[in-house]
Amino acid sequence: MIPIAQPLLGEEEAEAAAAVVRSGWLSQGVQVAAFEAEFAALVGTPHACAVSNCTTALHLALLVAGVGAGDEVITVSHSFIATANVIRQCGATPVFVDVEPGTWTLDPERIAAAVTPRTKAILCVHQIGMPADLARILPLAQAHGLPLIEDAACAIGAEIRLDGAWTPLGGPVGDVACFSFHPRKVITTGEGGMLTTRRADWDAQFRLLRQHGMTVSDAVRHGSTQVIFEEYPVSGFNYRMTDMQAAIGRRQLQRLPEIIARRRSLAARYGELLAGTPGVRPPVEPDWARSNWQSYAVRLPDGADQARVMQAMLDRGVATRRGVMCAHLEAAYDGAEAPPLPQSETAHLRCLLLPLYAQMTEADQITVVEALREALAAEPLAPGALAEVA
Ligand SMILES: Cc1ncc(COP(=O)(O)O)c(C=O)c1O
Repeated sequence: MIPIAQPLLGEEEAEAAAAVVRSGWLSQGVQVAAFEAEFAALVGTPHACAVSNCTTALHLALLVAGVGAGDEVITVSHSFIATANVIRQCGATPVFVDVEPGTWTLDPERIAAAVTPRTKAILCVHQIGMPADLARILPLAQAHGLPLIEDAACAIGAEIRLDGAWTPLGGPVGDVACFSFHPRKVITTGEGGMLTTRRADWDAQFRLLRQHGMTVSDAVRHGSTQVIFEEYPVSGFNYRMTDMQAAIGRRQLQRLPEIIARRRSLAARYGELLAGTPGVRPPVEPDWARSNWQSYAVRLPDGADQARVMQAMLDRGVATRRGVMCAHLEAAYDGAEAPPLPQSETAHLRCLLLPLYAQMTEADQITVVEALREALAAEPLAPGALAEVA
């Protein structure tokens, strides 16, 4: 069986977690602080704040950006549902705009028309590791005086070319970027998240809100030779990361360059193999973007039935996933106002995510592509579908 994804973990991670258990300090202590410092250095940001997952990171980002009841946030429907859910959790409304074909990330051309007097922020998504077009989105956010929040859940290790220089996502270009360390991501801590920002005032608020609004952390009070009384100036949340997670994350960061290099070479090889598969369109990586290839989405030829192709591939031992979901098509968002989102729906309903993970072999990739070809051979493709340039 070839799975859709597989985390790359080893004895080093197991030992790192065990060492934390032996140390006797398990929650948000020295390991979390070290993970934050190492993550900040990696993406080139002055501030990185670890939290329990990316959903809680996004929640804090929106709250600190001032999003509250009655506000609107411009975002994409074509994302994991957490992106839209966190907007609602602030009492605000997600205003969905469509994505660009090929990269399947927020279409900057559609932002201006979605801005209203209630718009409070823009939340763009670096979907499955493909950078959103920040060079076009940021000036629009600035022109409208809106904070730009980057959902970088999938995007650790992805890069964008800005002013001629390659820049890791998370710098961040916007006001804050939020990362996930769920096992489906490129590196993992089981569950976990990180907020990166250049704004010291925002970072201070993230740190306060992640620990119940408490001014002094448990770890600082515990390590102090002076009696310290904490205060609670605001009501916060328990969004803390554990030190076991952080210790695993530190080991994972050491593997990141190797993992990204491997993923890029696997993606390039898929491109070559798929060139011989008529009608299948590989993902578009613009010349200003370097994806981390957290997932590899191909567009199926017109007429191919997504579910049937997936089942045929599964029958041959190859797991796939349909294109990333669209929140507006789910019952939870029934009745949510949205303009037509044809590209988002194409990305969801006509694309397929192929297996991609660092341990994958060349033989695995050939098996995947052969399974795809055989599945498509049984499909009643639309006239001309096979003539489409792969
Ligand atoms: C684009 C996007 N945003 C947010 C999330 C939520 O991340 P987490 O599971 O760490 O809360 C995910 C997770 O899959 C995601 O893909």
